[in-house]
Amino acid sequence: MNDYIVEMRHITKRFPGIVANDDVSISIKKGEIYAILGENGAGKSTLMSMLFGMYEPDEGEIFIRGKRESISSPAYAAKLNIGMVHQHFKLVQNYTITENIILGMEPKSRFLGFLPSVDVKGTNKKIAELSKRYGLEVDPKKKIEEIGVSTQQRVEILKMLYREAEILIFDEPTAVLTPQEIEFLLEIIRELRNSGKTIILITHKLEEIKKVADRCAILCRGKLVDVLDVKTTSTKTMANLMVGREINFRTEKTEANFGEKVLSVSGLDVRNDDGVSVVKDVSFDIKAGEIFAVAGVSGNGQEELADAIAGLIKSSGSISLKGADISEMTVRERSEMGISYIPQDRQEVGLVLDFSLGENLALKDYYKEPFCKNGILHHKAFLIHGQKLIDEYDIRSGQGAKTQVRSMSGGNQQKAIVAREIISDSALMIFVQPTRGLDIGAIENIHRQILSERDKGKAILLISLELEEIISLADTIGVMYSGEMQTIAAAGSLTSNQVGEFMMGVRSV
Ligand SMILES: Nc1ncnc2c1ncn2[C@@H]1O[C@H](COP(=O)(O)OP(=O)(O)O)[C@@H](O)[C@H]1O
Ligand SMILES: [Mg+2]
Repeated sequence: MNDYIVEMRHITKRFPGIVANDDVSISIKKGEIYAILGENGAGKSTLMSMLFGMYEPDEGEIFIRGKRESISSPAYAAKLNIGMVHQHFKLVQNYTITENIILGMEPKSRFLGFLPSVDVKGTNKKIAELSKRYGLEVDPKKKIEEIGVSTQQRVEILKMLYREAEILIFDEPTAVLTPQEIEFLLEIIRELRNSGKTIILITHKLEEIKKVADRCAILCRGKLVDVLDVKTTSTKTMANLMVGREINFRTEKTEANFGEKVLSVSGLDVRNDDGVSVVKDVSFDIKAGEIFAVAGVSGNGQEELADAIAGLIKSSGSISLKGADISEMTVRERSEMGISYIPQDRQEVGLVLDFSLGENLALKDYYKEPFCKNGILHHKAFLIHGQKLIDEYDIRSGQGAKTQVRSMSGGNQQKAIVAREIISDSALMIFVQPTRGLDIGAIENIHRQILSERDKGKAILLISLELEEIISLADTIGVMYSGEMQTIAAAGSLTSNQVGEFMMGVRSV
């Protein structure tokens, strides 16, 4: 016997055209928080999916509590007390929280002695106990479609605990959370560890690892690079190992050179589906060569502001681009007038996941030459164009332009959208949370692209929840709170503390 609750030995897993895990060996002790760090596409989710029984390794062995196991299904993983919260939640939208938690393992009591019926009362009690014990408050009767992402995540955690999981795998749990929610989740993770659970935390956020993890395994392009003791290792060392090169933490930024006014928004109002006003009388301009960054806590109207300018949702007030009123134009007309849009929800709006990378890279122009001549699509044109962008923007995928986009990692999906939008050479580029969920290597890359577009004279509207991103990129900062633009100021004239205060609706002076 040894102290390891999980051992993965010489694990190799291949997908078409790519070795997702290449001879990886890790050992995890009972009761530790073990982080798995790596860039997008490094193979983190694949490795843990094998522990959870979603894939079986091509080579290698898995030992749980010292015993060799062949984990052929999630159901078997659950028997071994292994639970996983996936990157994309797997909840049934129109079921209640309770129904989702017990789904597949309804505790049966016998009604009238013979008819099986679900013991709702007992279940609710157990859920309430678990919620209370770990600070995971939820209203069990609410439906999933009625609750926000952070609550959905709590439901996923409760679901694991309800199944008496002892080994808890979290796949990038903070990617979808706000800074406050992240703090809260990390607290819950500590709490779970303190109660004896073993935690595996997949992330590419170094600060989080620093805050909670005991040890950290680093994966780079499918290979295990190192396993480190977190306390005695600097974040810089971790970052360099993860990316396989020196990382520049500060974005090099040259003096801005403003040109003509490109975008002018005046008195913009947006109402949501319920008729509630979410953007209120917002006015601002963006010039060529300027990065106008909008800061704000999530849900204060910034996403709607971007959507309204791109034409995705209705608004009133005026929007003009290079002097022309575009407020009545369709999305495609605006795009042809010179607006590029890199949306927050890459998977839903930005890409067609079942299309190839080559097709996605031509998504804005597929109906024009050289992709389409006399109504016929030319396959080869997509491949040639795709390969060019793949090389230029370092988009990594298994099978080049032919890769199905669904199989690519988030960072590389994002690089693909950015590449496609940049080459369309629009006067205005709108970036909504362009680096959300990306690792520092990919973030650095995207930041450089944004700055280089600015330096080419594009007007840039950047919406971000990351204050650090705003501060390091913005020439001008606007802060939104409750649908209103609280302030607009030159970036140098505001400290990040002051921006933070405006974000909370505290008007200094
Ligand atoms: N089901 C799949 N089919 C084909 N390729 C896949 C599949 N799942 C993952 N991959 C590829 O394997 C590599 C590792 O992916 P993944 O484990 O998701 O990385 P990470 O979680 O570190 O971002 C990526 O290149 C990804 O495109
Ligand atoms: Mg992943």
